[in-house]
Amino acid sequence: MSQAELVIVANRLPVDRVEGPDGEPTWRTSPGGLVTALEQVMRGMHGAWVGWGGKADLDLEPFDFDGTRLVPVSLTESELRDYYEGFSNGTIWPLYHDVIATPEFKRSWWDAYVRVNRRFAEAAAANVAEGGFVWVHDYQLQLVPQMVRELRPDVTIGYFHHIPFPAYALYAQLPWRRQVLEGLLGADVIGFQRVADAGNFQRSIRRLLHYPTKGDTVTVPTINDQPRTVISKAYPISIDVDTFLELAHKPEVLARAAELREQFGSTKLMLGVDRLDYTKGIRHRLKAYGELLADGHLTGKDATLVQIASPSRPGVEAYQDLRNEIEITVARINGDYSTVETTPIRYLHQGYPREEMVALYLAADVMLVTALRDGMNLVAKEYVAVRQDNSGVLVLSEFAGAADELGSALLVNPHDIEGMKDIMMRALAMPEAEQARRMKTMRKKVIDNDVARWGRNFVADIDHIRERRAHAAVV
Ligand code: G6P
Repeated sequence: MSQAELVIVANRLPVDRVEGPDGEPTWRTSPGGLVTALEQVMRGMHGAWVGWGGKADLDLEPFDFDGTRLVPVSLTESELRDYYEGFSNGTIWPLYHDVIATPEFKRSWWDAYVRVNRRFAEAAAANVAEGGFVWVHDYQLQLVPQMVRELRPDVTIGYFHHIPFPAYALYAQLPWRRQVLEGLLGADVIGFQRVADAGNFQRSIRRLLHYPTKGDTVTVPTINDQPRTVISKAYPISIDVDTFLELAHKPEVLARAAELREQFGSTKLMLGVDRLDYTKGIRHRLKAYGELLADGHLTGKDATLVQIASPSRPGVEAYQDLRNEIEITVARINGDYSTVETTPIRYLHQGYPREEMVALYLAADVMLVTALRDGMNLVAKEYVAVRQDNSGVLVLSEFAGAADELGSALLVNPHDIEGMKDIMMRALAMPEAEQARRMKTMRKKVIDNDVARWGRNFVADIDHIRERRAHAAVV
């Protein structure tokens, strides 16, 4: 088997396993943003992707799919509990999202995290060509860069962190804080969503490891060799704008958007689209909207909130609690303020295909993104991308990474319920000219910085490191 010039390592493979009509499992490209993002980077390269197949105990051989070699990593039930639900989503996820939920620090979870990270690293090392590029993704795999470096010192290693990196005072709680930093520093380029995330990371490096940092670089001492320079900086991720624009032009999607609009008549449509996650601020959004209904500022005839909350991490207790809380709140608000004709909240605990999402974006007067903390939030960018007539209002949390680029949104602090109520009212009443002025600025930003550019920027820094290495080897 020939080895790959580029190996992507991510917790999940870019495909979902589906049962065919004959009961035989087949694979289908998953709809995630990362997949389309990396498709562009992989184009024209001999690429492989190391990831988990989405089900416990799937012991599969590598296989080719759409020109990419897929290398499944098998995880047992108990590894999924301890590595995925445990350390990844019960420790790191809440800790890195400003402890909105309480992180648990369990030694058995850490042990599983180390073990599983090693399995991913070994699969990457076995599949990458001499002098190739291994690109590791996200918080589930923070130890992989160092492990790959130990196994394959000839390759160049990138790591992209899709979620926030917390302030030192929070990060310092992690009992394995040094090991995680050393794990990440195995990479040559470490990418973050925001400048602030890169800053937090570098501060932790200085405080805990005492390695010098300057601008975008960290100097890592080595035992026998020259110190190693690691680039750590912000590369804000984005969406594949063309795919979304294509969808927004499809006759079926336009017809569906028109149908939705007609159904709501003169009632304004406010839209929330999130994974059902406590970082997304869904409770705060519901509270503000519920109070506007209670105060009589709004009725279900003035506005409807369509809230899509796609099922997520159902095995983690904090997600079960959140689901209960949200569903009780929705039922209360609808019970108190529905009429026979109107329902103030349409709550959908379901995932939807992209076509339906785009139809909803086109039909929505106001998009609500009120995350308490979010690495980027691509929904905000998707909404903006498809609003070609420059109408529509984006309400955007200042705690979402997207706020760094989309300053022309109505920015909101979701903890400030009164402030959020004012912003919702302002959004619903915004004159067309102001909508157009804001949307135009935001669309330019999103179109100019699409995901292909994100990939190019990251890979350009990797290439730079490779050239420097090649030069050093010759001299
Ligand atoms: C976030 C993370 C991704 C993760 C996704 C879905 O976007 O940054 O790494 O894949 O959530 O979560 P799940 O746990 O279902 O993979």
